[in-house]
Amino acid sequence: MSNATRTYALVTGASNGIGKAMAQECAKRGYNVLLVALPEPILEQATQELVSEYPDQKFDSLGVNLMAKEGPQEILDWVNNNSYQVSLLINNAGLGNSGPFTSLPASFYYGQLQLNIVSLVSLTHHFLPVLEKHNEAHVLNVASMAGFYDIPYKGIYSASKKFVLSFSRSLNKELEQSPVNITALCPGGVLTNEDVKLRTQELGFVARKSALLPEEVASYTLTKMFNGKRVIVPGKLSKTLKLVSSLIPYKVRMNMMANQFIKNSR
Ligand SMILES: NC(=O)c1ccc[n+]([C@@H]2O[C@H](COP(=O)([O-])OP(=O)(O)OC[C@H]3O[C@@H](n4cnc5c(N)ncnc54)[C@H](OP(=O)(O)O)[C@@H]3O)[C@@H](O)[C@H]2O)c1
Repeated sequence: MSNATRTYALVTGASNGIGKAMAQECAKRGYNVLLVALPEPILEQATQELVSEYPDQKFDSLGVNLMAKEGPQEILDWVNNNSYQVSLLINNAGLGNSGPFTSLPASFYYGQLQLNIVSLVSLTHHFLPVLEKHNEAHVLNVASMAGFYDIPYKGIYSASKKFVLSFSRSLNKELEQSPVNITALCPGGVLTNEDVKLRTQELGFVARKSALLPEEVASYTLTKMFNGKRVIVPGKLSKTLKLVSSLIPYKVRMNMMANQFIKNSR
């Protein structure tokens, strides 16, 4: 992309993990990048890393809490006030957990649903008119392999990711005649924050073997998305596990999941 044709990729949760790797991969592919995450020093750090590495491209960041109702509007106002031309929106910010349903207060789940579902829908809704101005534009929604299953001790998280997957598929069909494509990313374990790394160790051999690095996920996903794939499962082993698990009877699979995730509760 030349400077004149460069558009912006907006990535939520861009200060760490998959979001940070997505921001880096977008920059590598020639996008200017807008990084959004909680207002913490690591957001500025992630932005400065890109500024140093890609001096001919533009980067900016906004610290915003996407659990707050007004977060998505704040982001749209910031983009419009700065006349940033966004052609790729990556809805990545999300929160996981595992443990008995009643072990956490209802307020935790309210925040989790606000972040994983409400802010994602709201951002997509706010940005569609912006994206439709381009000849080709994309929304990449980060779901999870968890979205393919009902997972005891992880029920709210897996249901929230099921929502993201279903919403992405149906909206993509609805927008068939528009320049905007909607893609769902469904990764298995990705070695991002310390909590995920610890959980992956505890889940055992298969989880450790199938876990991917955020950089691998970002590179694979953007290549597949630009090639027209609309539901993306990165990693050969994750794809195989998905296939094998579909052959296991539902009740047996539920028992296996329950045993696995009660051990992994936190
Ligand atoms: N890691 C995995 O194994 C895995 C697997 C499947 C799907 N996923 C999904 O992938 C996405 C990213 O996961 P990750 O493991 O890369 O996460 P991560 O390393 O914990 O990073 C999360 C990012 O989201 C930001 N964030 C958290 N709460 C926020 C809020 N309320 N408002 C705005 N930004 C907020 C964080 O900002 P701060 O750093 O400032 O908190 C950080 O930039 C999530 O949707 C997750 O469900 C992850």
